[in-house]
Amino acid sequence: MQDHPLFLRLITDIHVGEDRNDRIGTQAIQLMREFVAKANEDRPQAVIDMGDRVMQTSPSEDAKNLKKLSDEFNKLAVPHYHVHGNHDVLHLTRSVNQELLDMGADRSTSKDVGSYHLVFWNPGLEITQDGLTANRDDIAWLENTLLTTDRPCLVFTHVPLDNEAIENPKNRHERRLPYFANYPQNPFIRKIMEQSGKVVACFSGHRHLNTHAQINGIHYITLDSFVKRTKDNPNVPSGAYADLTIDREGNITFQVQGLEPVTRKFTKNPYI
Ligand SMILES: [Fe+2]
Repeated sequence: MQDHPLFLRLITDIHVGEDRNDRIGTQAIQLMREFVAKANEDRPQAVIDMGDRVMQTSPSEDAKNLKKLSDEFNKLAVPHYHVHGNHDVLHLTRSVNQELLDMGADRSTSKDVGSYHLVFWNPGLEITQDGLTANRDDIAWLENTLLTTDRPCLVFTHVPLDNEAIENPKNRHERRLPYFANYPQNPFIRKIMEQSGKVVACFSGHRHLNTHAQINGIHYITLDSFVKRTKDNPNVPSGAYADLTIDREGNITFQVQGLEPVTRKFTKNPYI
């Protein structure tokens, strides 16, 4: 049982830039202005961005788009935390992302918020012909960080840590490359989180889908892209973001806002 309820606002795959495939990047900044105004009104304890902030076009274009987006993030009146997505670090360095977003560190970090410990896990994101790979140092960092806290933990990271991309591939990329949307080390990473006895839930972006899975007591939630084309009108982005609340009894509500809302309710593992 925690001392304080938690209220966080999550956003992912903002993809500022041109319109491409399932995303309308040209409308990202305008939508972001509305997002910031609403967050400043609603005052969540933190805003968490789970990466893929730019469309990945060229070094100069990505730098310009990241600057525009970071100017909006920096208007937030509440703390904001970020992890990198694969599109953020292809043309730009982690340090450039860190400086513009005032991240404090260009790799992984963690922070107490309310009675929870929030873990911002930032492993390697290079998609090669074998797919993604998380390196040992990043996995060791996660294991050590979970050891250093007594609080229940929420993990935020760009690439999902469940099995969904393998069990239910959503497109030709995920069918062609098994590790396009998760790490081959996912079972090992999940085991580390399970053995810590502290991880309540793990949140990600990357797949441009809303999913929920529960594996050995830990919830795995993937949030859709902020600028994904809506099914009813492909010229209009959904503006998806999510409100995450946890009450004193450990009831978790994950409410996807925007034009295609989804509400999921589940409970915290009582042993954590
Ligand atoms: Fe993305």
